[in-house]
Amino acid sequence: MMNDDVTIDPWGSSQSTDYSRIIEKFGLSSMEGVTLDSPSRLHRRGVVFAHRDFDLILEAKRLGSPFGVLTGLMPSGKMHLGHSMVIDQVKWFQEQGGDVTIAVADLESTATRGISLEEGRRIASEEYVANYAALGLDPDKTTVYFQSQRNVVQKLGFQLGKRTNLSELEAIYGFDGSTNLAHVQAPLVQAGDILHPQLDEYGGLRPIVVPVGIDQDPHLRLTRGLAAKTNWFNVSDAKMGLQVGVSVQDDNASVMGVEPSGRVNKDVQKQVFSRIVNAISGLGYSDIMSNPKHGTVNIPSATAKDKGAIRIALLALEREMGGMGLLAPSSTYHRFAVGMTGDKMSSSKPKTTLFLGDDVATAEKKIKKSFSGGQATVEEHRRLGGDPDKDVAYQYMMYFFEEDDSFLEEINQGYRAGKILAGEMKQMCIERATEWLTNLSEKRDETSHLVEKFFE
Ligand code: TRP
Repeated sequence: MMNDDVTIDPWGSSQSTDYSRIIEKFGLSSMEGVTLDSPSRLHRRGVVFAHRDFDLILEAKRLGSPFGVLTGLMPSGKMHLGHSMVIDQVKWFQEQGGDVTIAVADLESTATRGISLEEGRRIASEEYVANYAALGLDPDKTTVYFQSQRNVVQKLGFQLGKRTNLSELEAIYGFDGSTNLAHVQAPLVQAGDILHPQLDEYGGLRPIVVPVGIDQDPHLRLTRGLAAKTNWFNVSDAKMGLQVGVSVQDDNASVMGVEPSGRVNKDVQKQVFSRIVNAISGLGYSDIMSNPKHGTVNIPSATAKDKGAIRIALLALEREMGGMGLLAPSSTYHRFAVGMTGDKMSSSKPKTTLFLGDDVATAEKKIKKSFSGGQATVEEHRRLGGDPDKDVAYQYMMYFFEEDDSFLEEINQGYRAGKILAGEMKQMCIERATEWLTNLSEKRDETSHLVEKFFE
């Protein structure tokens, strides 16, 4: 297949940047057709470029019904600009009315980075949460927890492990016989992270969106698959409208009326189907056709956009009947900003990014030395123009420091036309980075008393 060289490895050091091919290969939906009432900077600029089931979240917002936001961080070093992108999006979702949960992946960083749980805890609070507060997350509407301390997350990971096997993990992550088992456990715990906010004790059944960098999509594919495998009722497209199928599994057979001998108890089955019909008619459909013999219920007048509501009604029913009732998570994906040296951003390579705690002099030095999209000489630059798509100074203003779209458009064109020189672009970036970092550092001082509140 033409696409086979496009890979995503959540633990790898390289990342494909051919975003349209990533969308195609992994079956993501493009953000292009999605209109938002109040898009953030990252939405307006196409940095958030793809999603899965984002419409469930938009619909919840439209109806004023609850939705949650979950994301996670590995406490493995200093917080840098790349990490702040997720927080920008979390903040946006919070402003849209979502309740926010953030996982500190201390188990993952212990297992994959060799950082002790204690050290992970310190890093999370001093490096990350201190900056979340400064960046404006609302501590009253945000909960930060540690994987190692939320039993139910690990329990869910374990329960879901039953629904997958090594071959599937091999297919998703490229594992082989030499793969360390920590890399098998980490995605299962992450599935627990992603799914647990919809448990009754953490806010109950509602759509949950996971804003992440595209490197995390394999975990979402796994999690969505695991959730779907636990579901007792599946909603799919039919020739006309939508169809509900019943999934008889080991742990629900008796509830569904299937006896150990395989014999079907017609009375129990009838009751199950009338409960399905009931749950769906509660949404206002009047043309429901129940067919217990085929194990299906059809709703000819339902359309693709009704899928979410029907799914949720059936998951609620599943919970009433004793199932887990897990809704596959929605997700949004952002692109990665280029590293300052032209390589990938990495906490372990300080020259590739700005840390949120960098002082102004350090930032200035890094920007001055950053990879430029300009030409080798001024004469050539005036004649041929520069490339803002490669220019770190321009890119960082676009991703992080400049709110004004028309100003960006102006300097983009000016750069391409050779009117703005590379040094001038860097100077503009330095000014904005200076203001941004100074402001953030002040905010950190002002909000330091809030850090504890995020953990409550
Ligand atoms: N694996 C993520 C990382 O490497 C951290 C993480 C843990 C996470 N649990 C999560 C991210 C749940 C999103 C959702 O950074």
